[in-house]
Amino acid sequence: MKSFTFATVALAAVARAQLLDLEELADSVPAPVIESVPFGGNAQELTPVSRLRFAKRDSTPATCPSQAVGKGPDSNPPTDVGFLNDPDFAATANGAATPDGYINTFKNLHGSIEGAGYKTFHTVDRYDPAICAKACDTTIDGCNAFNIFYERNGLTATGKDCPKPSPTTIIKCTFWTVPVTADHATNVGNLVTTDTESTKDFHIVISASNGYLSKRWDPLPGYTQPNGPFDGAINAPKNCEGTDTFIRSQTFPISASSSYKPENCQKACNDQADYERKHPVAGKALRTCQFFNSYLLMKNGVAQSQVCSMYTQAWDSSLATNFGQKRGNDQYTITFSLTYTNQTDSGVPATCAAPTSE
Ligand SMILES: *[C@@H]1O[C@H](CO)[C@@H](O)[C@H](O)[C@H]1NC(C)=O
Repeated sequence: MKSFTFATVALAAVARAQLLDLEELADSVPAPVIESVPFGGNAQELTPVSRLRFAKRDSTPATCPSQAVGKGPDSNPPTDVGFLNDPDFAATANGAATPDGYINTFKNLHGSIEGAGYKTFHTVDRYDPAICAKACDTTIDGCNAFNIFYERNGLTATGKDCPKPSPTTIIKCTFWTVPVTADHATNVGNLVTTDTESTKDFHIVISASNGYLSKRWDPLPGYTQPNGPFDGAINAPKNCEGTDTFIRSQTFPISASSSYKPENCQKACNDQADYERKHPVAGKALRTCQFFNSYLLMKNGVAQSQVCSMYTQAWDSSLATNFGQKRGNDQYTITFSLTYTNQTDSGVPATCAAPTSE
């Protein structure tokens, strides 16, 4: 599969760099030294007393609620920057095997997926896409895609009295009903702040983020099991009666809040057919949508829009041969191309139907 680079990831990287400065700065401040302060005449009072600024005046021990211990490896060094740059993390992400029945959509990003179509998440014991794939296939209703990644989290909550907890590496899978592409991998974590003292902040960051898309597309009501996905759009000739069967295309922009959904095309196709039936032209046969091709149009590797091409009749997958084009300096490519045929009427004229073998 292709590897993608996306502008939004670059923007997120800028935001991340700004955040990083905070903890990096904190990292450059020497660790506080606990001083021994004699403040009384009796021996017991010579016990070392913390002079750290977070020590409470009433000397009640601070409680720092513990958080889940991750099963992932610690980064080296155990800082936010170390977590983002750990070569072992990158090797794990880049070397992960793609599970059967899936397409790898992106690898080794520093953002996890966010946006519409979220189902749930699991924390897992191993960085192994096959574990997430199994859950997606068997226990999560409507799951079509998943994202696996390492998340840097604190071993305790972060707070005024719980500054900069030790980090742990959680391995997470998030599950999605929609295709997750790299341009949705915009969740780069956040800084857990403690009042105003940045030296106590904890930086949650993401590493080794990989995306996978199921090839098992659920059928849409009233349509046959889709064919695909292909990396080409349908390029249909005239049919055997010399009729151009293409009706029109409708596009839906892709953004962080709107994903690729075959349902968009299903609705466009149904709406077209309804409109055609309500507005018949005397003496002309109805041209209703009986087949559509849904695909993702990529511009220079960035998801641009979902395109729905509607036809009066079904066409064979062998015609999915339009792989895009170069326009000026821009390269347009096609991916996630799927075809759906009306279940009760493929629209193919009887005269054009292939003879059925005995
Ligand atoms: C399938 O095609 C028939 C004939 O045009 C139409 O009546 C029916 O509504 C279509 N089904 C769907 C799900 O669009």
